Amino acid sequence: MVAPLRVGIAGLGTVGAEVVRLIESRASALASRCGRPVRVIAVTARTKAKKRSLDLRGIAWAKDPHQLAENPDVDCLVELIGGAGEPALSAIETALKAGKSVVTANKALIAKHGLRLAKAAEAHGATLNFEAAVGAAIPIVKTLREGLAGTSINRVYGILNGTCNYILTRMEKEGLSFDECLKDAQRLGYAEADPSFDVDGHDTAQKLAILSSLAFGTKVAENAIYVEGISSITPEDLRAASDLGYRVKLLGVAVRTAKGIEQRVHPTMVPKSSSIAQVMDVTNAVTVDGEGIPPMTLVGPGAGGAATASAVVADIADVARGVRVSPFGRPVEQLRATEKAPMERHEGGYYIRLMARDFPGTAAAIATRLAEQKISLESIVQRHPNGVDLARSGGKASQVPVILITYATHEDAVYRALKAVQRDKVISGRPQVIRIEKN
Ligand code: HSE
Repeated sequence: MVAPLRVGIAGLGTVGAEVVRLIESRASALASRCGRPVRVIAVTARTKAKKRSLDLRGIAWAKDPHQLAENPDVDCLVELIGGAGEPALSAIETALKAGKSVVTANKALIAKHGLRLAKAAEAHGATLNFEAAVGAAIPIVKTLREGLAGTSINRVYGILNGTCNYILTRMEKEGLSFDECLKDAQRLGYAEADPSFDVDGHDTAQKLAILSSLAFGTKVAENAIYVEGISSITPEDLRAASDLGYRVKLLGVAVRTAKGIEQRVHPTMVPKSSSIAQVMDVTNAVTVDGEGIPPMTLVGPGAGGAATASAVVADIADVARGVRVSPFGRPVEQLRATEKAPMERHEGGYYIRLMARDFPGTAAAIATRLAEQKISLESIVQRHPNGVDLARSGGKASQVPVILITYATHEDAVYRALKAVQRDKVISGRPQVIRIEKN
C-alpha cells in the first residue's frame, strides 16, 4: 500500500469546502490517477464554530495556518485564505521551508510574492502549484508551463475577469449603462468587495503578470503592465463597435515585440468573428499564439467554488504523483526582468469616437489632421442623432458622433492628431479611443 498524500487545508470558504468535498467524493478516482490515496487530514479557518455543510469528522482542526504549515503530518498545504499578505504569505513560506508542497488559488499573492515563494520552493525541493490563480478551471498555467514548453509563444491574451465581461455583455445586449450593470454584478456576487479592483483592470493585470511570466520567461511584474479599466465605455461605443463588426472586451495582452514584452490591460475591440469575441457573461478565455501553430483559445469558468476547486484538486493530484516543475516553468534566476512598455509606441488599429460640430468643413478638418500624422482610415461613420436636423435647427451647428476606425498606426500619432482636431475646435468633449486587437 503506497502512503497517502496528507493534505492540510487553510481556508474553508466556498472554495475550501468544495475542495474537501471533491477529495472525498473523488477519492477512488484520485487514488487510481495518482497511484496513491489523497486524504485531507487537517484544516483551519477563521471561525471553527461556523455552520458548514461539511463532514469534518476524523479531520484535525489546526488553530491557525501556521500550525497547519508546521504540522509534521501534513505533506501538502493548500492555501485558500486569499489576500496578498498575511497570514497566507508566511504560512506558505513556512510550509515550503519545511520541504512541504503548497497548492494555492491566491492570484494576488502569486502576482506580488510569486518569485520569492518560487525561490523558497526551489531552495527546499518543494512544489508550488497555483493553477486556480488564473482563470480558475481553465488549465492555462499548466498549458503554458508544460503543455507548450516546446513552443515559442508570440502572444497570450484573454478575458481574465468575469465581472468586466459580464458588465460589457449586458451593456451590449441591453443597451444599459456601465453603472447599472456594475450594480447588478455586485448584487449577483460577481464583483470583488472593492469593485474598482475588477473594473479598473487590476484583477486582470495580476493574472496577466502570472501568464506573461509563464509564457515568456519574464519575472512576474504587475507594475510592468499598462492598465486601463472599462468605466469609460458607453453603450454607444458598444453599438458602434457592433455595427462595424467588432465587440469590446477587457483584454489582458502580453506580446513579444522587437523591444521586449509588451504587457497591457485595456478595453479592446476584437472582430466579432474571433473566438475571444464569442466569450460572454462571466466566462473567461485565454488565447495563445505560438510559433508555427494557429492560435488556440481555452474557454471556461474563471471563478466560483466548483471551478476553482477543480483546478486546486488537479494541482494536489500533481503533488500526489510526485510531479515537480519550476513554479514559473524555469528556475527563478533564469527569469528575465521586464520593463513597462511605452504605450505611445504601441502599434495597432484604433477606434475613435468624436462629438463633432455638424458644420461644413468638420470632416475635412478631421481627415486633414489624421493625414498629417499618416493615419489611414479603414472606415468612417457619422451618425446623425434622431430628431436633429441642421436645416430645422435654424442652421445652428449641432453635435454628431463621428466614428473612425484606423489601420495600424502608432498611438502617439493618434493622440497628436486628436490634439490638433481639438485645437481646430471642430469637436467637443474628450475623444473616446479604444485599441483594436486583430487575431
Ligand atoms: N472578481 C474576479 C472576476 C474573480 O470577476 O473574475 C476571480 O478573480
